[in-house]
This record gives sequence, structure tokens and C-alpha cells, in this order.
Amino acid sequence: MSYDLLPDHVPAELVRDFNIYAPPGIDEDFHQAWATLLQEGDDCPLVWTQANEGHWLPTRTSIIEEILTDYSKFSSRSIILPKSHSADHGLLPTTIDPPQHHFYRKTLNHTMAPASVNAMEADIRAIVVSLIDAFADSGQCNFTQQFADILPIRIFLSMMNLPEEDIPQTKYWADQLIRPDGTISFADALQNLKDYIAPYVDQRMGADGKDMLSRMVNTETDGRRLTRDEAIKLSIQVFIAGVDTVVNFLGFVFLFLARSEVHRLKLSRGEITAADAVEEIFARFPLVTVAREVTEDMEFHGVQLKAGDMIAAPTPLAGLDNSFNANAAEVHFDGQRRNSLTFGRGAHICPGKNLARIEVRIALEEWFKRIPDFAVDESKPITFSSGIVGVVNQLNLKW
Ligand code: HEM
Repeated sequence: MSYDLLPDHVPAELVRDFNIYAPPGIDEDFHQAWATLLQEGDDCPLVWTQANEGHWLPTRTSIIEEILTDYSKFSSRSIILPKSHSADHGLLPTTIDPPQHHFYRKTLNHTMAPASVNAMEADIRAIVVSLIDAFADSGQCNFTQQFADILPIRIFLSMMNLPEEDIPQTKYWADQLIRPDGTISFADALQNLKDYIAPYVDQRMGADGKDMLSRMVNTETDGRRLTRDEAIKLSIQVFIAGVDTVVNFLGFVFLFLARSEVHRLKLSRGEITAADAVEEIFARFPLVTVAREVTEDMEFHGVQLKAGDMIAAPTPLAGLDNSFNANAAEVHFDGQRRNSLTFGRGAHICPGKNLARIEVRIALEEWFKRIPDFAVDESKPITFSSGIVGVVNQLNLKW
């Protein structure tokens, strides 16, 4: 590794060869790859990587919690690694710190209040059932393409009352923001999504629609409504944050269950409810890695940070951190709750967590009614990708 461009304040002994888009061992297991950071031991709370323009990486969950909670020292103005990609982001409310963040967050919390989300349960169940019924009798499926990729985006478009035929196009742009394949720039993909949503925002503003987009643009918070530009940025963020996370989390849930007969049996025999199982699996398989920008020169856990440094907040670490949960690797289907960092901490904690829980719970309930026992089709290798959101690339199941 070359240390030529190592910033002056970074000691060479803290440098590690770690790329968040390809952590060591990612081919075998996404979470184990991240957990290699945990092996640094108590004496090394932070390490530095030269990858992705250079940034800090915490080596235990308690430090990630501090980073996510203390917005005065760790700002959300840059949340994407490498930092230069953050400049094109600018979505709401993710890139705004408190107190300005409160206005957007109140609007979002109102729009996604538990009562509104719970009211969607029947619609979500109908979508889940229609997807599973399409392949249940065939004894196999490409779980990623036939289920995980489609379910969250159909729910999102239904919630926002947007046309279902827009799925392929909108999904392509959203994918390019999270895992660009080079066919379109980040800025163009983002602009296309904004151009897509803008006419719908115009149509719903001031009208009396009951869908989530209408409620979002017409909610009055602290004496004012969102401007058109704010409404576009907020709805795009909900789309990006709410679709890709659930798509990929479903991959980790079903991969785990397909490989673990003990846990499948507990679910199929009703020894644990889908709701309890979902909580445990969420906590064991976190998948989001955002970052923060250091706001001032400071010493943090014995390490000198400089204003402008980037520091990652990798929640996947929490799933296997024994200092966060005893025997963290084991999945306990006994209804006991474990500590979880899956939905973040602090001001930006995920506002979609109730919706995500409902989506995954209903997916499990309806799946196990129809397909109580299933396995990975091992003829098609399992591979993983890492980044802002962790991915099981293709999961094929058989029963
Ligand atoms: C498996 C599912 C999900 C996971 C693991 C997840 C995880 C997260 C995490 C860790 C954050 C915090 C980011 C930060 O601190 O900068 C976050 C924020 C956010 N999530 Fe989720 N999320 C999920 C599902 C959803 C859903 C279903 C929606 C909405 C439909 C959603 C909407 C958002 C939004 C809008 C934010 C930004 C909140 C803010 O900046 O105040 N998420 N999510």
C-alpha cells in the first residue's frame, strides 16, 4: 500500500487496507467481511483507509452510535463515500443537521405515522400474495428477481399512488444512485428521478389526495408547507431509502432462513411469530453504511481528527459485535429482543422502520403459509456486494 498521500495527521500505524465497496472476504459473507474491523481490539478504536479518497472507520458499535448521535461533531452534510460523491447528493432530510432537520423530519414523521403505515397492511399483503402465488407451484424461484426486487417498489408506488408501469425506469435510476454501473452519471440519474416526480408533486400540491405524496406535500409543519423543490428532494429520498434497503434486506432474511432448518421449523410450526423473528433478523443483519463529515479538529478516542475528514458509520458491524450483544453471531428465535443499530441512531434514525417491519413480517407470514420448507439452489453461487447498502446479488431458492 502506498502512504504517499497520507494526510499529515494520520499515523501510518492506523492505516488499513479496507474498501467499503469490497471489504476483505466479501465473496464469502457480507457481514463477516465487515466484522474483520472488530478484530482490531480495544486499543484501536479507529482506523484509517486510503480507499475512496481516504476516511476513518470505527472498529466497534459504541463508536458508531456516538458518530450517529453527535451531529455537532459529525455532520450529515456529506454522507456518501467517497466524499466527492456527496456534493451531488443534496437530498432531504438526510443531508441536513438539526435544528434545520427538525422541520423536514416532522413532516416525514407525520406522513409516515404508524396509523398511516398500518392502514396499508391489506394492500401490502395483496401485493405479497400475488407475487408468491405466481411461483409457489413451480418448486423454485429466482427470489431476487421474482420477489425481492419487485415487492418494495410496488409498495412504494402504490403508497404514493404512482403508476406501476414506471417500475423498470424508476428502479434503474434509483439503482444507479446506490450501485452505479457506469451507464449514467450520479447527477443525471438524480436529475431524471427529480424530473420524473416533479409533475406528480405539482398535481398533488393543494389537492386533497390521501396517498403518501399528497399528505407529504400538503402537511403544514411549524406554520408552513414544503416548497416544490423541497417536496421533490424529500420524496426522492424516501424512494431511494425505502426501496433498496428492503430489497436487499429480504435477500439476507431468506438466505439465512434457507440455510437454517432450525429457524425455518420454528417459523413454520408457529413457535415464534413472524413479528418476533423479523426483529431478531433485522438486528443480526444490518446493511446500511452512511458516513459523516467531521466538523472541527478534535481528539476522538485518542485519535486526532481534522475538520473535513470523513468517517464511516457502518451498521453491518453491529450484527456481529459481541460487545453490543452477547454471542452476537447466533440468531435466537426465543422472542427476546437484542440491541439493534439496523435503523441507525439519533436525529436521522430511519423514519421507515415501521413500514420496513410490516413489509418483511407480511412477506414471512404469507411465504410460510405457502412454502414452509425451502433451500438455496446451490447450483447458482451466492455472491455479495457492499456499499451504502449491502447486497445478496442473486438468490435462487427451491422447495
Ligand atoms: C431494511 C429496511 C431499512 C433499513 C435497514 C433502513 C436503514 C436506515 C438507516 C440506517 C438510516 C439512517 C441514515 C443516517 O443516519 O444518515 C435510514 C434513514 C432513512 N430511511 Fe431507512 N431503512 C430501511 C427502510 C426504509 C423505508 C421502508 C423507508 C421509507 C419508505 C425509509 C426511509 C428512510 C429515510 C427517508 C431516511 C432519512 C431520514 C433522515 O435523514 O432523517 N427507510 N434508514
